[in-house]
Amino acid sequence: MRRTFQWPAVLSPAAPSQDPHSNETESNGNHPTPSAASRRNRIIFGGDYNPDQWPQTVWDDDIRLMREAHVNTVALAVFSWDRIQPEEHRWDFDWLDLIIDKLGHAGIAVDLASATATAPLWLYEAHPEVLPRDKYGHVVGPGARQSWSPNSPVFREYALTMCRKLAERYGRNPYVTSWHMGNEYGWNNREDYSDDAQRAFRDWCRRTYGSIDALNAAWGTTFWGQEIHDFDQVLIPRYMGADAMVNPGQQLDFERFGNDALLDFYKAERDAIAEICPDKPFTTNFMISTDQCAMDYAQWAHEVDFVSNDHYFHEGTLHLDELSCSDALVDSLALNRPWYVMEHSTSAVQWKPLNARKRKGELTRDALAHIAMGADAINFFQWRASAFGAEAFHSAMLPHAGEDTALFREVCALGKTLDRLADTGLAGSRLQRSDTAILFDAQSQWATRSQTLPSGKLDHWHDVRDWYQAFLNTGMRADVVPLAYDWSGYHTIVLPTVLMLSDADTRRILDFAQAGGTVVIGYATGLVDEHFHVGLGGYPGAGQGLLRSMLGIRGEEFNIIGPQADGDADAIALTAAEAVSDPTNSHTTATSRLWQNVISVTDPHAQTLAFYHGDAADDWDLDGVPAITRNRAGKGIAYFLGCDLDVNDLTTFIRLNLDATSAPPNPDVLHTVRIGDTTAFDFYFARGKQGAKISQVSGEPLVIFRGSPGSNTGSYTLQRNGVLITMRNLTTPCADE
Ligand code: GLA
Ligand code: GLA
Repeated sequence: MRRTFQWPAVLSPAAPSQDPHSNETESNGNHPTPSAASRRNRIIFGGDYNPDQWPQTVWDDDIRLMREAHVNTVALAVFSWDRIQPEEHRWDFDWLDLIIDKLGHAGIAVDLASATATAPLWLYEAHPEVLPRDKYGHVVGPGARQSWSPNSPVFREYALTMCRKLAERYGRNPYVTSWHMGNEYGWNNREDYSDDAQRAFRDWCRRTYGSIDALNAAWGTTFWGQEIHDFDQVLIPRYMGADAMVNPGQQLDFERFGNDALLDFYKAERDAIAEICPDKPFTTNFMISTDQCAMDYAQWAHEVDFVSNDHYFHEGTLHLDELSCSDALVDSLALNRPWYVMEHSTSAVQWKPLNARKRKGELTRDALAHIAMGADAINFFQWRASAFGAEAFHSAMLPHAGEDTALFREVCALGKTLDRLADTGLAGSRLQRSDTAILFDAQSQWATRSQTLPSGKLDHWHDVRDWYQAFLNTGMRADVVPLAYDWSGYHTIVLPTVLMLSDADTRRILDFAQAGGTVVIGYATGLVDEHFHVGLGGYPGAGQGLLRSMLGIRGEEFNIIGPQADGDADAIALTAAEAVSDPTNSHTTATSRLWQNVISVTDPHAQTLAFYHGDAADDWDLDGVPAITRNRAGKGIAYFLGCDLDVNDLTTFIRLNLDATSAPPNPDVLHTVRIGDTTAFDFYFARGKQGAKISQVSGEPLVIFRGSPGSNTGSYTLQRNGVLITMRNLTTPCADE
């Protein structure tokens, strides 16, 4: 069951009169009401604030500049455990009281951390057993972040004590308006091979499988003599030798267990606070971008009161498209309720080999793009650039050079813009959904990392991103939806490299098609079930053959290619057939470079839309083998793309087969709509280097950033990284759900 959506309050600029600490020892009675001091319908703006890195003489300056920048919320105390509890039996809240007070009086709300992301050294000295171990058995040393095992009962007790202390002290503080639990759970302790982890994994297996026979069946332990007779024999996959291949079923369960252990830890921390302070919303910052898949956030999203995410940009042509793709998943996880950008960067990070600045306009453009995708909170890592430590060269809202900088001025201008947008009623409106869903499954992403697959180059997330970008190239926008959620209301679903499909999910896909939906199955989808067992009788074997029969095809082998010796071709061409060739250019053919399914058509109604063709295809005995097929499935249609295709070829496929829009598409533009009760907000972003021309825009312009109106009504020109936001009245007010 999902927790109820609850959004953090924002303080009114005038300070509330009550003393926030006056009732700190009360367990009941009259609460100071944060809502009395809160303004609704603001866009939250701010960042991670680490005043503990600075002398108190800097704090007033911070607050003065935060006000100048229109900051209304900061995330506080994320790494402050050692300052709050410098010794096991000594607590120091004075500095935190003071800074929360100063912020609150200035009208700046606090998203207060549970402060457990880093633990103090005294704890590690007293209890070295809380440290995780890596798969070689090495102890993970303290000194960075998250050097603790989520499976350690000892660590948990200390962490929960910290949570309770914070809840007792600040639970009723009107300036604290939300709880920021941990920080990026799993960033450094996603995989724990400690003895505590070993014990906890055995319990997890016991709970999951109930009987040892069920576990043996799931893991296929008759292979390589791995049979287990008792749950106490179950092993975590520690180092087994340089070339050893871990049983993929065991590996996958270990990944699930790691996810569950951290989620359980989060819940314990949250509940420790909620027992004392039940009325303020909880969140934790997810790490969603298309290069990351630490956790199965489809599960985590049920456990927060509002979804928040950290997003760091990809340079180059992917920048905006990738941001939008990641955000499309976040919006789905948030069930289309407003969500929170907990961190992004004003400019460069410091953790890549080369840390490029943001280009002209990208700071503002990125923030507005997150808003366009459904965010109601724009926050940065971090407020003031650190003068020392590992992140000194990470950009911030207030750079080393201080307030007299172009970057700080752009931050201030952004704060003002967000306030202005909030005044129009934008906050609380919802992203208009697409009629197409690309389905994403974190567990399939984990499964594609197994070293035991036909190709080590499978990447479900990247294939989702390619499809997403291809839809944008046709002027359409797709949603990205967790496989585990309800996507039955869409018109079209796409499953790119969803390697694992359970029987139940396969059934849902079939039902969707039979009810009239369009289904697109990618080349490495549905090969194994949730235990990594191959579906038999031909590929893709998911659902005991249901998927295969829906598609009307049967695969016998995989043809995997890559760079070839002796000048042999490293790509296989497809015929210029209707599915993937541009009719305006008969010489354009699609090309596959990694994976071709050797299939035949089994259903007389199934059509072959493209074949493999040419010398390379002939060499691999693929000439004439169907590459792309279409079949009728009940009232719906099922496509099979039997090979990998690049973004351009996917774009052509979509344009020729899936494009149902009547409006002339504009692939130069990312267009999203947020719908309020009586108003719609249109967002337009120039996608490419060349900027974009937009026409027939109805509505009043609210923001024209790096652009200008054209001579015709409703036409605009946007430069690179330009943004247009307009507002129009809805003739029929939108029903709320
Ligand atoms: C070796 C092993 C076999 C099998 C093959 C796979 O030869 O002896 O058991 O693992 O490799 O190529
Ligand atoms: C993560 C962390 C932050 C900071 C940033 C730097 O998102 O949560 O504390 O380290 O990365 O990009």
